[in-house]
Amino acid sequence: MIEVTFLSGGGRTVTAPENTNLLRLSIREKGGIPFKCGGGICGTCRCRIEQGIENTDAIKPKERKHLTEAQFAEGWRMACQTFVLRGKVSVSWPPRPAATTARTEVQA
Ligand code: FES
Repeated sequence: MIEVTFLSGGGRTVTAPENTNLLRLSIREKGGIPFKCGGGICGTCRCRIEQGIENTDAIKPKERKHLTEAQFAEGWRMACQTFVLRGKVSVSWPPRPAATTARTEVQA
């Protein structure tokens, strides 16, 4: 079994079988990783593996269209393209740009 902690989604930890897709697990368990296409195109599912990057699979060509080598070195991946192979992984992601935030900034 693997263990994934969704840090930006309230810190919940869930378990799943080995070699589980990170985005599919997030959707199933309501982990909260943002997504749109689910197919490596939109780039919405960018996330950072804070712990356990060695437990994820190899970087896919589609990820290279959205992330730089420097970001990969910091642990960034695209959740829809990433499989957790074994062990424990902690993942965080940037806050979604919210319309309400933009309005607040305009008023301020
Ligand atoms: S959800 Fe669109 S690239 Fe992952």
